[in-house]
Formats: sequence, structure tokens, C-alpha cells
Amino acid sequence: MDTTYRQSASGTILLLLQFWCFSFLSIAEDIYDPTELFSISCGSSTNFSTLDRNWTADIHFLSPSSHLSFAARPLTPCTEQGPYTHARLSHSPFTYSFHLTPGPKFIRLFFYSTSYQNFNRPQACFSVKAGPYTLLQGFNASLNADADDDPSNSDILFREYCINLQEGEKLNITFIPSTTDSYAFINGIEIVSMPPYLYYTDPDDNSSEQPQYVGTTTPYVIENKFALQTMYRLKAGDHTISSSEDTGMLRTWDTDSKYLDTPSAESYEFTATTKLSFTKKTPNYTAPDQVFQSVRNMGMNGSNNIKNNITWHFTVDSGFTYLLRLYFCELNPRIDDAGLLRFIIFIQDQLATDWADVFLWTKNWGVPVVREYVVIMPENQKKVNLSLKMHPHPRSVISDIQINAIEIFKISNNKDSLAGPNPDPSTQTAVVNHQDSNKKSRASKKTLGAVTGSVFGVLLLTLFIVAFFLVKRKKNIAVESKKHRTSRGDGSSSLPTNLCRHFSIAEIRAATNNFDKLFVVGVGGFGDVYKGYIEDGSIPVAIKRLKPGSQQGLNEFVNEIEMLSQLRHLHLVSLIGYCYESNEMILVYDFMDHGTLRDHLYGADNPPLSWNQRLQICVGAARGLHYLHTGAKQMIIHRDVKSTNILLDEKWVAKVSDFGLSRIGPTGPSMTHVSTQVKGSVGYLDPEYYKRQRLTEKSDVYSYGVVLLEVLCGRQPLLRMVEKPQVSLVDWAKHWYEKGSLGEIVDPALKGQIAPQCLRKFGEVAVSCLLEDGTQRPSMNDVVGVLEFVLQLQLQDSANVNAVLESGGDYEDSGTENMFSSSHSSVHVSDYSNSSGLNTASYGRKESDSLLPELVFSEIKDPKGR
Ligand SMILES: *[C@@H]1O[C@H](CO)[C@@H](O)[C@H](O)[C@H]1NC(C)=O
Ligand SMILES: *[C@@H]1O[C@H](CO)[C@@H](O)[C@H](O)[C@H]1NC(C)=O
Ligand SMILES: *[C@@H]1O[C@H](CO)[C@@H](O)[C@H](O)[C@H]1NC(C)=O
Ligand SMILES: *[C@@H]1O[C@H](CO)[C@@H](O)[C@H](O)[C@H]1NC(C)=O
Ligand SMILES: *[C@@H]1O[C@H](CO)[C@@H](O)[C@H](O)[C@H]1NC(C)=O
Ligand SMILES: *[C@@H]1O[C@H](CO)[C@@H](O)[C@H](O)[C@H]1NC(C)=O
Ligand SMILES: *[C@@H]1O[C@H](CO)[C@@H](O)[C@H](O)[C@H]1NC(C)=O
Ligand SMILES: *[C@@H]1O[C@H](CO)[C@@H](O)[C@H](O)[C@H]1NC(C)=O
Ligand SMILES: *[C@@H]1O[C@H](CO)[C@@H](O)[C@H](O)[C@H]1NC(C)=O
Repeated sequence: MDTTYRQSASGTILLLLQFWCFSFLSIAEDIYDPTELFSISCGSSTNFSTLDRNWTADIHFLSPSSHLSFAARPLTPCTEQGPYTHARLSHSPFTYSFHLTPGPKFIRLFFYSTSYQNFNRPQACFSVKAGPYTLLQGFNASLNADADDDPSNSDILFREYCINLQEGEKLNITFIPSTTDSYAFINGIEIVSMPPYLYYTDPDDNSSEQPQYVGTTTPYVIENKFALQTMYRLKAGDHTISSSEDTGMLRTWDTDSKYLDTPSAESYEFTATTKLSFTKKTPNYTAPDQVFQSVRNMGMNGSNNIKNNITWHFTVDSGFTYLLRLYFCELNPRIDDAGLLRFIIFIQDQLATDWADVFLWTKNWGVPVVREYVVIMPENQKKVNLSLKMHPHPRSVISDIQINAIEIFKISNNKDSLAGPNPDPSTQTAVVNHQDSNKKSRASKKTLGAVTGSVFGVLLLTLFIVAFFLVKRKKNIAVESKKHRTSRGDGSSSLPTNLCRHFSIAEIRAATNNFDKLFVVGVGGFGDVYKGYIEDGSIPVAIKRLKPGSQQGLNEFVNEIEMLSQLRHLHLVSLIGYCYESNEMILVYDFMDHGTLRDHLYGADNPPLSWNQRLQICVGAARGLHYLHTGAKQMIIHRDVKSTNILLDEKWVAKVSDFGLSRIGPTGPSMTHVSTQVKGSVGYLDPEYYKRQRLTEKSDVYSYGVVLLEVLCGRQPLLRMVEKPQVSLVDWAKHWYEKGSLGEIVDPALKGQIAPQCLRKFGEVAVSCLLEDGTQRPSMNDVVGVLEFVLQLQLQDSANVNAVLESGGDYEDSGTENMFSSSHSSVHVSDYSNSSGLNTASYGRKESDSLLPELVFSEIKDPKGR
């Protein structure tokens, strides 16, 4: 019975309140609301959303002179989220025009360096101009992509600039191929307004805190006429901050660790001990709170051994002037006065200050402060290292340094250019990387941050329901290409990665022949399930397409991705990926050849499963649930355990599926349950949960008990058109169990297969799962144990059973086991099978006669429609 049961409970209100609070928290992070935000997918003809950005087709922004440009798709699809499914390319210049308000803007360029139809990868070489500024000149995209010094090299190139627009200016961004043989291309452009004096110097502010030339006290004004290029945006510690976690400007913050030359330096996180007090000079949009809550210092060993500077090295283009913005905030309760912690800062081996004292600057804890220095890197080689060094001051009471974050910007030169030279081709890496990229492409750390961490951003903003995941595991979310998998076989999961792949809608359309009805293998209230093929038709997958526009569906869509992408187990169905694009919510799973367990128990035309097979399936599914309850970081309660949510693969291995309703279990030691709205499926609902709205893992145990009875008796949990005592499988089975005659109601198809002591044990564990008092029920671990034992017994006993079978098919153990004695009635059996068939017909629905499970989101099911 799939009819959804829902009940509102007063506990729910509390829970909702909690959710709302979290959602406000997440919104509150968007402190700055940009007046203009354009995310443009170049070459795309449709608008679509990735999880943190709404991408717009570029056609509205393309100037008429660009009619010679082409829109094309990459020949090697990019597995990253973002505007990489399309590009605009041309052998002649093309221009995007924007009407914008005056003021400073971020301009972000996204490139995916690969071959496109008729455009070969190495031929991409071009310049980019934005207004009067040259952003890139003679830019050989493949060369830059290959030379990326990040070892996890990628074909994605990301560039960020700041420019200031004057009144009445229209911004033109033009792409100009360098030679007649080469072409220009672009995958994505983003324009975001920023506060006026975030990076540019406020002319009315004559304080001494203006940027200074290193080694002098001469101020250096970041004038509006300059354009800036972001070279580095780093925070102390090992966590990145994704664009959706920024203060509203979609900046990403990488970690400083890979640029740090001093291994003994350590980083600390101060988690929300002191509320930050922002100032007029350093307002709340300057950087996300996490930036100020993580600090880099010398570490234990460093403090003992102060012979060395703490040193960072940043590779930059020579011949430009650079702005270094250093972020500080004192959160260490030990430092409660000026002079306790004083340190020296060197930039490019010149003294920036020998009186760096955060408490002196801020007079208090938790007050963020920024210090800016300007350094000229003389022209010599192409690339040079810019160094930042810090050292405790000899007179400091505490011998340490501290810093929270570092930003480095290149400042446009007197020709209004920011363009640096191409890197030197390194033949070896170029070849390796390019080959690599044909198989898979990975984003550089920077872009990965821009794209990944924020992947769930949009959904999270829209969905207060899932806000608690923000807190739980925001940083764990990774959406990256999942490599080819040859899963299954051994006892545990053989999957190498817990990452989950993003599919474009185009890939899904290709896999399903544009949602061809012939590919539909399951229909549910949520939408249809298709069998499709990916990887050039080599891998069959189940594609669950949710009905668009359903808010409920969206919650569960996100929930399922969240849950499944962190879970990998032989007995859990594997999520291959998802598509959230063009208003479509699609989930892609491993295809399960044998469909649902239910279809092999009753209601479909499949040959009956043997008792041994059934036991193996029961053991497998129980292991899957046991893993859910104990194997992941947090306990996960499935909440919708039923025979249609247990799927069978080609080797009859059971897989638990459908995590749309799943919940993280009680988290603290003092918490014994989660108060929540009652959800699940009628016939499987734990009465205790239903009565008290208290969800524990024992509710899954109850539902699983029902499944065990279905397996044993081969009937639905609830039958409506039968005599009262038979309506509920649970009541009926308990009744016969108590009479000691469970054999009476065993599935006739199992006649003669069950060893008597097996039946007794099996009945025992099933009935104990169904105890009214949840605390009395066994854990899934116990259930696994008993079922394994039953399976052992059964295997040992098969010879015996065969004997029994020959002697007339009685289950009875004529000796001591008479509690299970039965007088088998064949009339009864045929009655039962009739009633089952009749019942199915009379409800006018077929449970699922498809190849595929109904991967149903119970909550949004329409009972009438099924
Ligand atoms: C940020 O600061 C502004 C001005 O001080 C204030 O109006 C706003 O409420 C603050 N926002 C948050 C989220 O604290
Ligand atoms: C994307 O568009 C939707 C619908 O207009 C809106 O609710 C959402 O906030 C937008 N997301 C972003 C990141 O702008
Ligand atoms: C795409 O989005 C842009 C800007 O939000 C809007 O002007 C345009 O009408 C949209 N196009 C389509 C096809 O929805
Ligand atoms: C870009 O660099 C690659 C690698 O050095 C080279 O093969 C290619 O010819 C260059 N492209 C152009 C247009 O110069
Ligand atoms: C921008 O481009 C359009 C068309 O290409 C042109 O008419 C306009 O003059 C340009 N504006 C600026 C400020 O260059
Ligand atoms: C700051 O200095 C400029 C000239 O350097 C002067 O015009 C302006 O009035 C000063 N502003 C303040 C607030 O002192
Ligand atoms: C600190 O020094 C001790 C002993 O000198 C050494 O065992 C330990 O590994 C060092 N720790 C770090 C982080 O370098
Ligand atoms: C730290 O670096 C500065 C600048 O290069 C140098 O003058 C100083 O001697 C260094 N200090 C130590 C302890 O290495
Ligand atoms: C910059 O510093 C790194 C690490 O110290 C070094 O590997 C690299 O060769 C240096 N690059 C230049 C151009 O000096």
C-alpha cells in the first residue's frame, strides 16, 4: 500500500521554526545585495540554473556586430557545473554590451579549454577588452590551461576583474582573435556590482589606513580609473569558502596552505566564540565571518623556534603593481591588550610594517581589520614570485604572528592593460594534460570552489527545509565527475569515490531519446522513471524525472542527492548523478534489472523467489539499513522502508532505495529521537512514531518487520477486500505466530522450502521488529545477525527440507517444534491468491508491473493517481 499518510504534529512547528532560523542564517550571510548580477551562459539558447547561479542565454547581450560568431558545444562534455555546456566562438571579433549603473563591478570570465565543433583546442588565441581595459592579450587558452601550476590540472580557466564604470557608460566586452588562423571563445561571463569602496580607495577618507607603498609611508590610492585583476583570494586554514557562502558577491576564497613555505605554521578556527564587530572602515560585507574566524599563526614548533620567517610565495606576472590586502581579527582570549602580540611584515623582502599589532589596531576582540600594501614587481622574467613574510617582533610578549586572509590584485598599467604573457609551453605537461582532459576535466581549485561548494547554493536559499544540511555538511558537498564504476562483487562498496555527477539536460535527453515514452519503465505520482543509457549507450541507468515546479519534490530531490552522495554501500542503491536545469529535476541511478522486491513477491507475473533467495535478499536489505543507521557520520533514518523501496540488481542483490524522506537521526547524546511530521507509507508505519511523532531508527526496524512478513507470506501489508482479521498483515501474522501456527500463512509458493526451525526464528525476529514499544525492538544489527543465522540454518537444512517436501510438503517439525505445527489448507491458499488478484484489480492500479521500481517520493504521491 503506497497511500501516503501524513499527519501534522505540534512538534513540527518547533522543527519548522528551527528550519526558519537556519534559513535566516543562510540568508543573513548574503549581507550585500548587488544591484546588478548577470550570469551569462555564452552560446546557450536557454536559461538554466546551476545550484548557485541562474544562467541566462547570451543572445540578449550580444551586439549586432557579432553575427559571425557561432554557438557550439564542447566535443568533450565538461563534467563541472557551470556555463561549460556551451560556448560562443568566432574567427572574427564579437562583443557583448551591457547597460549598467555607474560604480565598481566584478567581471568574471569562464573558459573551458577544449575542442568545439570546427574549432580545435590549440587554435584558441585571442584578446579580451572590457571598456577601455585590456584584460587578456594574445591569450593562448590551451597553453594557459595546460600550464596551470595546480597539479590537479584542469581545462577550466577562471578570471576575475574589477572595473569601475563612469556615469552613462555602456560596457562593451569584446573578444578579438589574435591571428587569422586563431579564434576567440567564451563560455561564461558574470557581472556583479560591488560596494563602492570595497577595493577602491574612498577619496574622502584621509585616514592613515590607505594602502601604502611597501617600504615607504607614501599612500597609494586605488583610483577609480584602475582596473584590477584578482590573482589570489585566500583564507588561512584548509577550508575553502564557496561563492554561495560569500557575502553576496559570489567570491570564492581558496586556502593559503599551498602557497605557504613554512610547514610548521598552523591554522586555527575560532568557532563563533565572539560575535564579530564590524566597523565603518571594515563593514560586514568585507568578507564572510569564516574568514575572520580562521587564523594562521606560527604553531607550537614555530614559536619555539623563531629563527625563520613564516613565508608565502605567490607567482605573479612581472612588470605590474600589486595590491596586497591582509585581513586580521583578534579572537584569542589570551591577547587582551596592545603590545602582547606584535609582529613584523615583509613584502618582497621589504619592510611593510614592524608594528603589526591587531589589538592595537582594533582595541578589542572580534573587530576585523584590513591592512593594504602596494608593491611593484619590476619587469624581468615573465613570471616572478611575490613573497610575504611574517616574523614576531623581538619585543613582543607573545612570540607569534597572525593573519586571517590574503588578497592579491594586479593593478592595470598605464596602458590600461592587465594582460600578462602566456606561460612557456612545457611540452611534457602539455601533452599529458591534454590527454588527461579528454577523459575527464577537473576544475582548478579556484574554479572548483566557485562552482562546487556553491553548487547547492540556489537550492539552499530556496529551501528552508534543507537548511540544516548547510550547517551539517556544507563543505562536504562535492559535485564532480564520478568515474566509471564497476561496482559490486565484494562485500563492501567498491566505489572509489563518493562524489556525484552533474548531468546536463542535453545528456539526459540523449540518454532517453528525448524522454521517449517507450523508455518509461515506471510511473509514479512524482513523475516518470525512464531506462536510459549513458556513456555512449554503454551503461544502463534509471532516470527519475520529477514533475517540474513541485516545491515538495524539490525538497526531496535535494534530500535524496544529499543523502545518497554521502552514502556508498553494496546494499544501497547508487546515485550516479543528477540534473537540475531548465526547470527539470532529474536523478540518475544505477539501473536495477530486477526491479522491486515487491514485484517478485506478489502482484506481478514474475516467477516466485525461492526461500533461499528471499533470505539472501532480506539479509542484504537489512545490512543496507544497518549501514544507514550506524555506518555514516550521522545516523540516517530511512523513514520509508517498504518492499517497493528494496530493489534487486541483476544478481538479485538487494539495494535499499528512495531517500527522499530520509532524515538525519538524533545527533546529541541527550537526544533520543527526532520530533517530526509523520511521513511514510500506510501499512509500514511504526504505530509509536505515528502516535507520538517521535522518530527513531526503530521506526525503520518496524517497517522492516512488515517487509519480512511480506517476504514470508507473499501478500501486501494491507488488504482491503478481505475479512477483518486478515486486513492487516501484521495483526494477522502476530495472531498466527501467537497460536504457534505461522506455517498457516506462509506464501504457498514456498511450500516445503522452509526448514521448521528457520521458520520459527524468522517469525520470531519479524514479530520482535513489530513490537509496540520501539525500545523492545531489536536493532538492525541484531536483525542482520538473526537473518544470517536463519540463512545458515536453512542452507544446512536443505537436505532435510527436501525430505519433508517429499513426505507431503508439511512445514511441521513433528518433534519439539510443535508451536509451528500447522495443518496446511490448500483451500485457504487459493482463497488468498484470489483475494490478492481481486484486490489489485478492484483498486484499479497495478503496484508496479514495470521493470523498474517505483522510486517514489511518497510525500508527493497522489493516491488517486496510483
Ligand atoms: C550589515 O551592516 C549594515 C550597516 O551597518 C546593517 O544595516 C546590516 O543590517 C548588517 N547586516 C547584517 C546581516 O548584519
Ligand atoms: C534564481 O532565480 C530564482 C527564480 O527567479 C530565484 O528565486 C533565485 O533566487 C535565483 N538565484 C540566484 C542565485 O540568483
Ligand atoms: C532568460 O533570462 C533573461 C534575463 O533574466 C530574460 O530576459 C529572458 O526572457 C529569459 N529567456 C527565456 C527564454 O526565458
Ligand atoms: C597555443 O599553444 C600551443 C601549445 O604551445 C600551440 O601548439 C598552439 O599553436 C598555440 N596556439 C596559437 C594560436 O598560437
Ligand atoms: C559598444 O558597442 C556598440 C556596438 O558594438 C557600439 O555601438 C558602442 O559605441 C560601443 N560602446 C562603447 C562605449 O564602446
Ligand atoms: C582629504 O584630503 C583631500 C585632499 O588631499 C581634501 O580635499 C579633503 O577635504 C580631505 N578630507 C577630509 C575629510 O579631511
Ligand atoms: C614539533 O616538534 C616535535 C619535536 O621537536 C616533533 O615531534 C613534532 O612532529 C613537531 N610538530 C610539527 C607539527 O612540526
Ligand atoms: C625574515 O625575512 C626578512 C626579509 O627577507 C629578513 O630581513 C629577515 O632576516 C628574515 N628573518 C629571519 C629570522 O629569517
Ligand atoms: C617561486 O617559488 C616556488 C616555491 O618556492 C618555486 O618552486 C618557483 O620556482 C618559484 N618561481 C619563480 C619564478 O621564481
